[in-house]
Amino acid sequence: MKVLIVGSGGREHAIAMSVKKSPKVDKIYCAPGNAGIGQIAECVPVGAMEFDKIVAFAKEEKIDLTIVGMDDPLVGGLVDELEKAGIRTFGPRKNAAILEGSKAFSKDLMKKYNIPTAAYENFDDPAKALEYLETASFPIVLKADGLALGKGVLICNTLEEAKEGVKSIMEDKKFGTAGNRMVIEEFMTGREVSVLSFVDGKTIKIMSSAQDHKRAKDGDQGLNTGGMGTFSPSPFYTEEVDEFCKKYIYQATVDAMAAEGREFKGVIFFGLMLTDKGPKVLEYNARFGDPEAQVVLPRMKNDMIEVVEACIDGTLDQVDLQFEDNAAVCVVLASDGYPVSYEKGFPIKGLEAFEDKDDYFVFHAGTKKTEEGFVTNGGRVLGVTAKGNDLKEARKKAYEATEWISFANKYMRHDIGKAIDEA
Ligand code: AMP
Ligand code: GLY
Repeated sequence: MKVLIVGSGGREHAIAMSVKKSPKVDKIYCAPGNAGIGQIAECVPVGAMEFDKIVAFAKEEKIDLTIVGMDDPLVGGLVDELEKAGIRTFGPRKNAAILEGSKAFSKDLMKKYNIPTAAYENFDDPAKALEYLETASFPIVLKADGLALGKGVLICNTLEEAKEGVKSIMEDKKFGTAGNRMVIEEFMTGREVSVLSFVDGKTIKIMSSAQDHKRAKDGDQGLNTGGMGTFSPSPFYTEEVDEFCKKYIYQATVDAMAAEGREFKGVIFFGLMLTDKGPKVLEYNARFGDPEAQVVLPRMKNDMIEVVEACIDGTLDQVDLQFEDNAAVCVVLASDGYPVSYEKGFPIKGLEAFEDKDDYFVFHAGTKKTEEGFVTNGGRVLGVTAKGNDLKEARKKAYEATEWISFANKYMRHDIGKAIDEA
């Protein structure tokens, strides 16, 4: 079978590695892919938002299955376009990807179907939002409605800050049209857990839990990023939490989408906060997490193609989804200065150290292949993952492996998985 993956990050590299393990797969293409993905797939020089070109390519190459990894094309309706052209595709259609594409939609859905989440109000008029803030309590959370590269959330400690925030989102359009509407919600505290799941429209199967580290600097300081590292499973995702979420969150979300006529097929990513009043949904994503996929997928025992096809065919109830009884840690190697500004084009050394090792993986995010070899080409450059018998061993191995790689400007957090010690 010929498989096309759409996207270009570490997540898509992890998806490609999983897909490659399937005996059903003869050839993998990735649009646009990156230099690391290019080692196991043929990269197609077509952007993830160039829908016409993707559809034309899939038709011409007689692609049997397309997997859309990224949020933008999902929210924009790439799955619908591919399906219209008769291409089997894994991922939610546009009317279901809105679960991630509009925070106002997802909050209203949760409210309507009693799914636990922070109290909130939606606004499309900045004057009304400013008026609302006058009687609010602080800290308070402001969220741009649309996609904003994970950066459209502002936590404001004072009325002044919150007023500035409303202006920057809704008037100055700091996050572009994503800020035409906004959500203002209650500030919650607790540990965060990422739970990814496969969904076939009716049935949902949960993957092993993970935790991301969104801030740029050690000690959760600095700006929000796409994610600086992950571990899986989360020791804080206890059986009790799992039971609660199964009862009130997971199936409830899938059923709510179906009841709204927005059948969801693909991956739902539940961003959860474990508050003292129980788990609550911080946000939904309509795709694998990045870098959550880099610690979850290497631990999945199933054939990825079988699971993905079961989601498309509505037979996920017949799949016994299984994960290895071990742990994984991913440390992101970034360009110093990310997420603001950074230099790129520096040669990367040491990648070959990963080649003959089963427990170590190097996922490419921002890299490019030149005549001189691999060079840095983005903010997040590589994701170094190691598996171990437990989280501590995986963390030790992942940090050891970060030393095998060198490039000018190399930056990483040194406390990925520190929370493990508190478990
Ligand atoms: P989101 O994109 O909605 O996941 O938000 C990004 C990050 O902002 C989350 O991972 C949390 O750390 C934080 N956050 C979002 N909503 C809240 C909230 N209601 N209370 C506290 N922190 C939040
Ligand atoms: N790691 C968070 C995300 O993929 O949105």
